[in-house]
Amino acid sequence: MTLDLLEKECINCNKCSLGATKLHSVFGAGNPDATLMFIGEAPGAQEDEQGVPFVGAAGKLFDKYLNAVDIKREDVYIANMLKCRPPKNRDPLPEEKDACFAYLREQIKLIKPKMIVCLGRISAQRLIREDFKITRDHGIWEQKGDFLMTAVYHPSLLLRDPRRREEMLKDMISVKEKYEELKK
Ligand code: URA
Repeated sequence: MTLDLLEKECINCNKCSLGATKLHSVFGAGNPDATLMFIGEAPGAQEDEQGVPFVGAAGKLFDKYLNAVDIKREDVYIANMLKCRPPKNRDPLPEEKDACFAYLREQIKLIKPKMIVCLGRISAQRLIREDFKITRDHGIWEQKGDFLMTAVYHPSLLLRDPRRREEMLKDMISVKEKYEELKK
């Protein structure tokens, strides 16, 4: 398997109903050999239109944090739990998360990052712990198998609740420090 082949499979996927309503699948973007992978929730309207993750309002805010800690988008890899947009940005359904998870698992296997940073609760609960509470557990690092993992606030939450932005900056500074230690 290669990332290109996996992306082709994803584009033609009909494992859940979102395959029929999407405009584009949003497979992921960045360095296929990245040390650091960010994993969000699901594409929104802009991502659905462009086929690229985190390009809408939340993505623009996320870019500011990447810039602030001097991490370049092209050096890391950014993907989502779900590759297709849920209509009206509703929360992903359990069967959609289950159907899509095989793509993410394979994607991680091919990229082999050393660190995974979950963006928000949805990916943290799937990848780190089912009872992960983002307000309580964000920024805490744990080694899980081959990966050093943490979760930070989802940028959409920071748009709704700017009071969390200072904590986000602290977490992103910590991400940068670990990244410098582990960079391939
Ligand atoms: N929110 C996400 O979780 N992912 C995106 O790609 C865009 C918004």
